[in-house]
Parts: sequence; structure tokens; C-alpha cells
Amino acid sequence: MFYLCVSIIIPNPMEKETIYILAIESSCDDTSAAILCNNKVISNVVATQKVHEEYGGVVPELASRAHQQNIVPVVHQALMKANIDKNQLSAIAFTRGPGLMGSLLVGTSFAKSLALGLNIPLIEVNHMQAHILAHFIKDEKMQIPNFPFLAMTISGGHTQIVKVNDFFNMNVLGQTLDDAVGEAYDKSGKILGLPYPAGPLVDKYAQTGDPKSFKFPKPKVGNLNFSFSGLKTSILYFIQKETQKNSNFIDEHLHDICASIQYTIVEILMDKLKKAVNQTGIKQIAIGGGVSANSGIRQALKNGEKKYGWTTYIPKFEYCTDNAAMIGIVGYYKFKNNMFSTQDISAKARYTI
Ligand code: KG4
Ligand code: ZN
Repeated sequence: MFYLCVSIIIPNPMEKETIYILAIESSCDDTSAAILCNNKVISNVVATQKVHEEYGGVVPELASRAHQQNIVPVVHQALMKANIDKNQLSAIAFTRGPGLMGSLLVGTSFAKSLALGLNIPLIEVNHMQAHILAHFIKDEKMQIPNFPFLAMTISGGHTQIVKVNDFFNMNVLGQTLDDAVGEAYDKSGKILGLPYPAGPLVDKYAQTGDPKSFKFPKPKVGNLNFSFSGLKTSILYFIQKETQKNSNFIDEHLHDICASIQYTIVEILMDKLKKAVNQTGIKQIAIGGGVSANSGIRQALKNGEKKYGWTTYIPKFEYCTDNAAMIGIVGYYKFKNNMFSTQDISAKARYTI
């Protein structure tokens, strides 16, 4: 028997002028790699897996296989685009969780191996923290929120309201008890015959429909938690009932149905956000996740600025959807705080903030 002895040299951040982080994201169906120079993104490559489209949702086994195929070319491209050599890297940050286990394992194993090979530190990142800290990516055109602020992460996998006290001090105030908001969009769209992911299409048709045409029930969930599975079921029953009477019902009313779904979802999110502001007294609100692209939510937040004196922050679209740049910004702040991981770390499918 022999023991493999690995010594990792932890650089003193104070001695380094420039920190180069390679970040890797593989929690769901996007394989992404980014290079950050301090808090600035110099490359951010995302390979979106098209293989799931025909199944109407992410198939975990196919996702992990596609990550295996994509990871090397995606990392290679991120380095090429950033025009740096792997030997210049200061550390490797990777998504440890939450997410699909098979997908997480690909990024985790790759990051661990490369960090070991290059003899540089490894930094584990919580994907949900990354969605929130994406607001700290340096960009001349974007405003950065001050602590404390409220963050609402809304995507195909998550729906949370978080009180952000500091970079690594966050409290989850509420979250979904079943489906995520993006799932509610995608599953409702699927009922209407729209392709996956249906969220952007529901949003598009909603913009030219009447939001008061049809009424869908809002869930009665306590505190700041959410539930979206009941909405999906009520839309299904409604469509089944109407198409029995008129087989062209969807085609004839698509825009009005989408507008009514969007109206209900936005109301559900805004009701909880208002409640969170009242409970905490914090009026700075940052959003993140793919559903942040939604026109109804953006409009409702702008209205909140005028109506309730909120200050709202919406990151650039490329940092809203799953991407490695947001993993890199967490990596950068962890590097500055000497928050490194050891080689015995493993992926964590359920990983709370
Ligand atoms: O953050 P993301 O890329 O991946 C996850 O972590 O899930 O979010 C993808 C989700 C999908 O459910 C998609 O339908 C939804 O974001 N989405 C939208 C819009 N753009 C993307 N939902 C509603 N309106 C949009 N404009
Ligand atoms: Zn995400």
C-alpha cells in the first residue's frame, strides 16, 4: 500500500496583484467555463444542451453524458478566448451543488483533477449563492447592491427569497415547496403544446394578450414560501375542459391564456416580495435566474420602484441563466478570504445556502 501525498500551495492573496480564476458550472443542462481576472469576466463560454428539447424537460442521464462530452472543449475555449495559459491560473472554482448529481459529478471531478494537476487551490461554490453574487461581477454599466439586500432567485430549478447580509452570510426567508417558477412556465407551456423551454414563448405571447381573460387560482402557502404545482394542475384542467367544448380553443386564445398565466405567476412572486420587504424593512431587491428575463417580472419590479420606493437590480441576461461567470465571482471573493477546499470534497445534490 502507498499513500499519495499532495501538497497544495495556497498563495497569499495579498502578494498577488492579479487573480485568475477558472470557473466551472455543470449543475443542470448547461456546461459552462469562465475565466475571471479579479472581479472581471474575460471569457464565459456556455454549451447549452439541445438533447433535452425532444423530451420536454431535462433528462438527468443525458445531461451528465453531454457534460462529459462538452467539458474539455468548453474549458479549452474559455482559456483561448481569455488568451491565457492554464499555468497562469490562480485557482479553480466549481459548482458543488445544488443540482443533478450526475451533472455535478462531471464538473466536480474535472475541477478536482485539474487543480491537482496544476497544483493550485480548489474552491467549491454553492450554485444558489452564485446566482445572487452574480450582481458583483464588475461591469461599468451595472449597479452593485449594498448589503443587506433581498435576493429573489427564479429559474427552472429554483425559487427563493434570500436576505443577503454579506457575501457569505445569507438567510433563506422562503422557497418553493414543489415546482420552481421556471418549471411552472415550462409545464404550462407544454400543456399549450409549446416546445421546451416554454417560458420565453409564454412571455412573448403574453405581451399581446389580455391578462384578465382567464382567472387562475393563487396558492395559499404560508410565510414566504411558494408553491406552483397547483397552478399547473388548474391550467391543465381548464385547458382539458375548454378543448372538449372547442378543439381550437388553444389556437384561438393562445395569447390571452399566456397573458393570464403570466399575470398569475407575477402576482404570486410580487405578493411574496412585498411581504418580505414588509418583514425585513429592506427595499433593495436583486433578482437572478433565467426567469429574470421575463418582461412581466421586470415591469412589476419597475412599478415597485415607483410605487414602494424599491431599488431593484437585474443582472445582464448572460449572468441570469446558468453560467460559469457567476461561479467565478464567488471563487474570487472566496480566494480573497482564503476559503479553499480540499481534494476530499464531493458534489452535493442538496445544498442549502
Ligand atoms: O437559470 P436557468 O437558465 O436554468 C435553471 O437553473 O433552471 O433558467 C431556465 C428557466 C427555464 O424554465 C425557462 O423557461 C425560464 O428560465 N425562462 C423564462 C424566460 N426566459 C427563460 N421564463 C419566463 N419568461 C422568460 N422570458
Ligand atoms: Zn441556476
